[in-house]
Amino acid sequence: MKQLCQPLSAKATPVSAADEVLWEIHKFTIYNRARAAHVSGKPLSLSDIDEMRQYFHPLSIKAAPVPVAAWDTHDLSRIVNMKEITLPTGTARATLNYKTIQWELEKIIMGQEEATETIAHNAALFLNKSKPKKPLSFVAFGPPGTGKSETAKALSKVLTKLTSRKYTDVWTDLNTFTESHSVNRLIGSPPGYIGYDDTPIFEAVTKNPHTVFIFDELDKAHPEVIKAFMSILDEGRCAARKELADGSREYDFKHCIFIFTSNYQLGKPSKKQNKFASSYDMENILHDDDAVNISYTENRPEETQTTVVNRIYRNTESARKVFVEVGVLREIASRFNCFVEFKELSAEAKVQILARQVVDTGFEYNIRLAHISSHIMQGLIDASTSENALTVRSFKSVIEGYLATAFAEAGSSCEGRTVRLEGTIEAPVLMAS
Ligand SMILES: Nc1ncnc2c1ncn2[C@@H]1O[C@H](COP(=O)(O)OP(=O)(O)OP(=O)(O)O)[C@@H](O)[C@H]1O
Ligand SMILES: [Mg+2]
Repeated sequence: MKQLCQPLSAKATPVSAADEVLWEIHKFTIYNRARAAHVSGKPLSLSDIDEMRQYFHPLSIKAAPVPVAAWDTHDLSRIVNMKEITLPTGTARATLNYKTIQWELEKIIMGQEEATETIAHNAALFLNKSKPKKPLSFVAFGPPGTGKSETAKALSKVLTKLTSRKYTDVWTDLNTFTESHSVNRLIGSPPGYIGYDDTPIFEAVTKNPHTVFIFDELDKAHPEVIKAFMSILDEGRCAARKELADGSREYDFKHCIFIFTSNYQLGKPSKKQNKFASSYDMENILHDDDAVNISYTENRPEETQTTVVNRIYRNTESARKVFVEVGVLREIASRFNCFVEFKELSAEAKVQILARQVVDTGFEYNIRLAHISSHIMQGLIDASTSENALTVRSFKSVIEGYLATAFAEAGSSCEGRTVRLEGTIEAPVLMAS
């Protein structure tokens, strides 16, 4: 029998026992998807086929169907007997609507509607390209603690949920990349130099071509480090110091997303934000006499028609101009696809973040909160306020400090039910709702 699908040995070479296990699970998942499609007679999606192409070839498969029993094995080698994978006819490809990405992001990121819309819009355009020539790149700028890094991390989760690809994020803080030789940590050290055996950061793309690279504090990096990004953002590739597993010497970043963050103030002075953050489908947090009610609905806000593209273009170009005026990054400024401003969070957004984090902490203890009393909210706000300002970064420790014990004690008895969080932060009480 002709072998139709063969594992690609070079790319597939695992580097450790743990990798090997993960690799087998991953291959098996892909194999299972192909099998399910085969059994149901449904054609595979183009993205599935894209992914399979990375591991097996060729996929131009058509022949008599294999008896279902032949699939009832966990032996991956059986995939070589796969005789029928129907390629979808035509060129139709499921297009991803940016609003869907935006809604998903806003379940996690509060009070930054313009930023989430901008990122979602560009991500959708990028993901709808079947053959991108270069990666997508953002510079997220704005004051500390406004959600830049959090959004970058959220993006890989959201894209994994909405597409059939697994996006992984790789986070690097560039504030330790202040020497010219720090670039070696990205691309690898030359032979004979210290660090030659270390795994370079860019190696991540060989494990997953759909990687979201987050580089925090771009402005702190040495110019040599910045230069390393130039060919990546321009051409989607970069020379590797060592031969890669597939025998090449080049990293391919064409399917990656790069998010750089910076504390530079590149936008116009921020206006006071009056609007509440968008709701998110699982918990629609509403303020009612300062208490917080959380309803578990699927309601989504009405879509409004805006000139999103104009706004994104205008903001990007004006931030790019300021970036050049700042001077340091003149050469690279033109290479970023998009500049995204994160504004100072409004008090309302901060309260929503606080409420959201209480709900999330509850989930960690298997508690599904439907209501947080005004006393609890006020207590948490007071405990998180320093010098008259609510400090978002202190929320987690304040919540853990005051509520974790009550959550831990109630966790097992609350399973599957929604509960109300009443009392005060000194004496929180969980009651059936
Ligand atoms: N808009 C937001 N929505 C939800 N959570 C937020 C938001 N802003 C901040 N947070 C919370 O505050 C923490 C710090 O935010 P984040 O790390 O994203 O700040 P940042 O903008 O990257 O700041 P820095 O410039 O100091 O790196 C996050 O872990 C998150 O819990
Ligand atoms: Mg950050």
